[in-house]
Amino acid sequence: MSSSIAAALVPDLGIVEAIMLVGGKGTRLRPLTINTPKPMLPVAGVPFTAHQLAQAADAGVTRVILGTSYRPEVFSAYFGDGSDMRIELVYRTEEVPLGTGGGIRFAAEALESGPDDPVLVFNGDVLSGVDLPSLIKSHQDTQAAVTLFLTRVADPSAFGLVPTDAQGAVLDFLEKPQTPEEIVTDQINAGCYVFQRSVIDEIPADRPVSVEREVFPDLLAQGRRVTGVVDDGYWLDLGTPMSFVQGSADLVLGRVRSSAVPGPVGPSLCLPGSQVSPSADVTGGSVIGSGAQVGAGAKVVGSVVMAGARIEDSARVINSVVAGDAVIGETAVVRGSVVAEGAVVGAGNELTDGARIWPEMTLPPHSIRFSSDR
Ligand code: GTP
Repeated sequence: MSSSIAAALVPDLGIVEAIMLVGGKGTRLRPLTINTPKPMLPVAGVPFTAHQLAQAADAGVTRVILGTSYRPEVFSAYFGDGSDMRIELVYRTEEVPLGTGGGIRFAAEALESGPDDPVLVFNGDVLSGVDLPSLIKSHQDTQAAVTLFLTRVADPSAFGLVPTDAQGAVLDFLEKPQTPEEIVTDQINAGCYVFQRSVIDEIPADRPVSVEREVFPDLLAQGRRVTGVVDDGYWLDLGTPMSFVQGSADLVLGRVRSSAVPGPVGPSLCLPGSQVSPSADVTGGSVIGSGAQVGAGAKVVGSVVMAGARIEDSARVINSVVAGDAVIGETAVVRGSVVAEGAVVGAGNELTDGARIWPEMTLPPHSIRFSSDR
């Protein structure tokens, strides 16, 4: 279906195109991102990007430009032309990463929208229940150059802050606060925007540009209207291993909704082809990937166990990622940790507190009680 025909079917939205930025290296999620870009890691059973595409399609978006850079082939091999996702997908691959602003500018060359049309832009690693139609409506009502989705966080000290006035006009873009006095708001950039197409075209095309540090502050400095819409619903940046498992579990448990979850809401999601012993306990929103096995008496809580992994008898996996084909031996305990593809944690070992086991690494049985912040 051409985008213009599809647009006619969703007359209320007034927007048909989106850009998704999925080109980052995902360093905080290493070693999971050595072979798989962060947005392609499975969250609640499908690549995270599938949830975002479904959210966009559900809101009436018909055409998405994927702004890739790191390992672009992984996206196209899975999504192809996007027809399985009810969306037309176009790929724009940066030879050299252009940053968030430069990535938007580069992707925009594939847009069909006119200069005055609104274009949705998503960071490829943010899980939220944002109400896209109302974000777009607010953009149209205020005729802003850019409208940002903002969220409130309990601890703003780790984020750039975005104060607004009572009408939602953005007052400033502040770097991470260094002192308590600098925490002037709990509002942060939630990684989803509506841009006037012509504003994207103003971003420099030939060098890396940060949208947060350069594009947005420059618009304010020029006196352009930048609006913030605060949404107090679910929001999570999936950039770290712990938030990654949290986001997956929240989708499985139904704390945040996605039409791309391949199963009903419940305590766990066991994908077709997985084998879970009747005496195993799989809860807390855990996912057991296709071809993965969970042995007798094993316990898996709030974790992502990827395709072909094996959790042996009486092992415990708590709030952790066990990547494809990895093995967790009998009675081993893996808590708050990442075990990468093909790694083997031998029987009786214990990993806690952010341990990361590299791909294909083997920990011999009963060799380690390991705790690390790496
Ligand atoms: P970390 O290295 O762990 O910080 O992750 P990241 O590389 O994904 O960076 P960050 O979380 O800051 O990126 C926010 C979003 O922008 C993610 O969806 C990235 O995929 C995307 N992104 C970051 N840099 C680029 C870039 O140079 N080009 C493109 N196309 N996307 C980018």
